[in-house]
Amino acid sequence: MTRKLHLKTYGCQMNVYDSARMADVLAPLGYALTDDADEADLVILNTCHIREKAGEKVYSELGRLRPLKAARQAEGGDLLLAVAGCVAQAEGAEVVRRAPHVDIVVGPQSYHQLPELIARATRAASGPASGPGRGIVATDFPAEPKFDALPQPSEAQDVSVFLAVQEGCDKFCTFCVVPYTRGAEYSRPAADILAEARRLVALGAREITLLGQNVNAWHGDGPEGRSWGFGRLVRALADGVPGLARIRYTTSHPLDMDDDLIAAHGEVPALMPFLHLPVQSGSDDVLARMNRRHTARQYEAIVDRLRRARPDIALSSDFIVGFPGESDRDFAETLALIERVGFAQAFSFKYSPRPGTPAAGEPRQIGEPEKQARLAAVQDLLRRQQDEFNRRTVGRRVAVLFEKPGRHPGQLVGRTPWLQSVHAEGKVRLIGAEVEVEITGVRPNSLAGRVVTQPPGDGPAMAASAVGAAA
Ligand code: 5AD
Ligand code: SF4
Repeated sequence: MTRKLHLKTYGCQMNVYDSARMADVLAPLGYALTDDADEADLVILNTCHIREKAGEKVYSELGRLRPLKAARQAEGGDLLLAVAGCVAQAEGAEVVRRAPHVDIVVGPQSYHQLPELIARATRAASGPASGPGRGIVATDFPAEPKFDALPQPSEAQDVSVFLAVQEGCDKFCTFCVVPYTRGAEYSRPAADILAEARRLVALGAREITLLGQNVNAWHGDGPEGRSWGFGRLVRALADGVPGLARIRYTTSHPLDMDDDLIAAHGEVPALMPFLHLPVQSGSDDVLARMNRRHTARQYEAIVDRLRRARPDIALSSDFIVGFPGESDRDFAETLALIERVGFAQAFSFKYSPRPGTPAAGEPRQIGEPEKQARLAAVQDLLRRQQDEFNRRTVGRRVAVLFEKPGRHPGQLVGRTPWLQSVHAEGKVRLIGAEVEVEITGVRPNSLAGRVVTQPPGDGPAMAASAVGAAA
């Protein structure tokens, strides 16, 4: 029986990955994805709890789904509603209390149990104990990692895919809910990661972004029994997965940028010259109170070493403004750090007190107008740096990995090694190929380019990479 699944994903790339895995788990039950909640039999909201706003979005969406479910029930049918992800983990039964029409609350470590949870929820909905507030809550951290229970990818893959190698966090930054919602650090075995990477490439992927809340804290036993760090894993993927053109990873902690990983940036051509390395603040006092366990100077020393290893590496980061007790001077130090380092892009956020985290209880909370002013200032500077970085690529010829057709006929969308999005005219067969493109202009959120490489069969120049990739 075919049933329809509508999956809405909030938050980080790990949630995007988890949503894809949930779809894999449910495919054998006959669930096919739909973009339209109106025609779904099951709606899963895969939620984010990182800031208050992200959490609140879920409740407004649940409010919108309520009449839809009621209408279905009035017709004698049903619409199952599941809340997954970090709000599910953090709030558990509170979700069902606030939204009694929710059938299933499932944490990020438990979604491999969805088939069983759905069966139970279906029975509950039709049984004598039916009615609002009966939602099933599955938020225990299971003893066995979910990865072993997840099906292997079997469908055709996008050109650029995610592969989770690590999950959870032991760092306990004082502002952050992740150690509570995702649990303790867990690294998948290297052999499993290599096997999954080979399968993804066999199914059409050309770029893999290795994912983890603290991805470079990954460590594990290599196939030969020796202990591996993350740099070794990157090298093994580059050497041991034929057809894998590009490797990226996110998100990293500065403390885990060890010598071997930094060296890998200089030695592994498939490792792209772009790194998201959150620093959060430029003030040592704020960094200490955030429990980041490094200073601004130490962060910059890591950046220097990365640039020595790979001179064209571009950096991205996360910044929090208005952390409790952040003075004007602390904030000025953040701006100064941004000026000194120079970022190709970055994300910045107003500090959002999260229940249960140490910083939420600090007395010196910063007022909203101050936070807003600092956010505007930091975003203005970061935007100027990003524009400048993008403008510097104009006129250059760069390798673009085309990922999909663009919105206009004949147009393709791809990315440069530095993660910039590029639109260019090109034949569909170039999708999946790394192609030489001349950058011709800067648009608000992407670059415009012109394909230099002749498509396969049309000319000799650089066609080999396109032919190989299109095969
Ligand atoms: N308030 C604001 N931003 C936060 N982040 C994490 N927790 C909070 C919070 N409580 C930001 C950090 C992190 C990114 C994923 O989200 O910058 O790196
Ligand atoms: Fe959160 Fe800090 Fe862990 Fe990153 S390193 S997930 S910011 S606690």
